[in-house]
Amino acid sequence: MTYREVYEGWKANPEAFWMQQAEAIDWVKKPSKALFADNAPFYEWYKDAEVNTCYNAVDRHVLAGNGKRLAIIYDSPVTGAKAKITYQELQDKTARLAGALRAKGVEKGDRVIIYMPMVPEALVAMLACTRIGAIHSVVFGGFAANELATRIDDAAPKAIIAGSCGVEPGRVVAYKPLLDGAIDLAVHKPEFCVILQREMAKADLIAGRDFDWDEVQEGVEPAECVPVSGDHPAYVLYTSGTTGKPKGVIRPTAGHLVALNWSMKNVYDINPGEVFWAASDVGWVVGHSYICYAPLIAGCTTVVFEGKPVGTPDAGTFWRVISEHNVKALFTAPTAFRAIKRVDQNGEFIGKYDLSCMKTLFLAGERADPDTITWAQNQLGIPVIDHWWQTETGWAIAANPMGIEHLPVKLGSPSVAMPGYDIRIMDEGGKEMATGELGAIAVKLPLPPGNLSNLWNATDRYRKSYLSTFPGYYETGDAGYVDADGYLYIMARTDDVINVAGHRLSTGGMEEVLASHPDVAECAVIGVSDSLKGQLPMGFLCLNSTTARASDQVVKECVQLVRERIGPVAAFKLAVVVERLPKTRSGKILRATMVSIADGKDYKMPATIDDPVILDEIKEALAGLGYPAD
Ligand code: COA
Ligand code: AMP
Repeated sequence: MTYREVYEGWKANPEAFWMQQAEAIDWVKKPSKALFADNAPFYEWYKDAEVNTCYNAVDRHVLAGNGKRLAIIYDSPVTGAKAKITYQELQDKTARLAGALRAKGVEKGDRVIIYMPMVPEALVAMLACTRIGAIHSVVFGGFAANELATRIDDAAPKAIIAGSCGVEPGRVVAYKPLLDGAIDLAVHKPEFCVILQREMAKADLIAGRDFDWDEVQEGVEPAECVPVSGDHPAYVLYTSGTTGKPKGVIRPTAGHLVALNWSMKNVYDINPGEVFWAASDVGWVVGHSYICYAPLIAGCTTVVFEGKPVGTPDAGTFWRVISEHNVKALFTAPTAFRAIKRVDQNGEFIGKYDLSCMKTLFLAGERADPDTITWAQNQLGIPVIDHWWQTETGWAIAANPMGIEHLPVKLGSPSVAMPGYDIRIMDEGGKEMATGELGAIAVKLPLPPGNLSNLWNATDRYRKSYLSTFPGYYETGDAGYVDADGYLYIMARTDDVINVAGHRLSTGGMEEVLASHPDVAECAVIGVSDSLKGQLPMGFLCLNSTTARASDQVVKECVQLVRERIGPVAAFKLAVVVERLPKTRSGKILRATMVSIADGKDYKMPATIDDPVILDEIKEALAGLGYPAD
């Protein structure tokens, strides 16, 4: 079948399409139908089914006689460690940890926060939770104690599973002090913590609260898979919104299983037993969907890579991992390729390895610039596929579905809508725009299986953020257009979210931190273009009139404050003191105009600007920081 036939087939009968895809999942109790629309605009998929995520990701493969197949390949250039884990071993590890959690009182519906580096135990922890119906919430290791505390208070976990440390190039990041700090800051206290001790930095355990990963599992009864209903949350994953308070995206169990399983073959063209590598982190949605769940649900082998594209030890690391582990497809963010291209423009490292196993490169997480795609195509000689999705959707909204049909690649476009997604481009008033016209991208409800069902503890925010601007549609927060061939182009965010090295960050959140500095009267954070990371945050600070301190000192403290409160991942290093911020007469800060000036782009003088002279002051401040960059 062609892509067009598959897409039209879905559109003609979505219910039949999704019931057919559901046949690939092992159900405890089969769903009587796919879509439950009784609570529209809150839709639920396979709600009356009973199923278990871990069973589908692990046990069923062992029962089918594939226990000896590799489930996880761990490759850690930052520590020198490598390991291979079969499905049988993964079942064992998962059942034992799940048994330990259960023995300490974790039950179906309880939340468990996971704060771990890129080690196989992170996947074991996620699967152990879903095995007993506990709802995990993984927090990225690059977030600071304060961010972890916010998530602890929102998710109210019974337990936290953490690594003692992470390893970044050139430094060991002790996680345990961050964890202790977060628990001190949080109002909610977990009943206990399980700590995976890593040799590079062993943690001091607090007696009665903290338990060693190995010791807590000694002598416990391994746990069986607990059936949950189709709409039971498999996990909550926090992501950035416009404010400092993150949104807890709820992923319902059954739709997640069906959609991810479908995507492995149809989007990525990966069959059971083949090796798939998503070079991301378990703390992000890419890590949830394509390091942990999808490859395992589909019976493939997943690679857990603890390292960076460059510097661990060199720009050939990716190629070494691909050739050594027989990787069929790599999925990463364009930033990683920009980093490699920067140090290996001529692809000398690429030439050193036999990459004949690699059939496709998938890019997502940020806009894939045509230069990077072209470079990757030329160097690798394989299809380079941009695809577009979000934490909220859990899998691709638009892609070039390699398992169905390799459509012509159009540079700058993540190709076409996947089945399940009816994409519309809207003007501000919610009127559909013509082909080729730029507008807000919306998806007609219901969203397909695998997408979020709500926000944790924040139903009103869910409605407001996604459902109220265009009634009957999901608002993606991205702007773009569709061309005459149905190819989508993603141009910008419509909110204050920025994308730094494929990491989604809130400028509003950073402004909240800066505003808490005693010398800062007012501030604005914008995302400026960066040739490596796509965007970088930049802060403008207006100081209190009573402040007698040197601007440089305040800037330094502000940079440190964001690192301490949000974490190093914010990459907040650019800030400048200005007298005033450009505003409209009604007091709205003209952030978009500031971005255009910083990026050296033409801009129209906003008709509503209060005092145009301030823009000259901003230009001067930006020049001091070296912007616009060449
Ligand atoms: N734990 C602790 N600190 C972390 C961390 C973690 N898990 N991950 C990142 N950090 C720190 C880094 O050490 C760095 O700290 P520094 O300011 O002291 O240098 C900071 O957070 C920023 O990290 P990062 O964005 O990774 O930048 P980098 O300069 O270290 O590396 C790239 C740049 C391009 C190599 C890197 O961003 C990369 O590999 N990107 C791939 C894209 C990706 O994985 N995206 C995920 C979504 S698909
Ligand atoms: P996240 O939720 O962290 O995955 O970030 C999702 C956001 O990243 C999207 O809303 C887009 O703004 C951006 N994004 C992801 N993939 C792409 C892509 N292929 N092209 C352009 N932007 C993308």
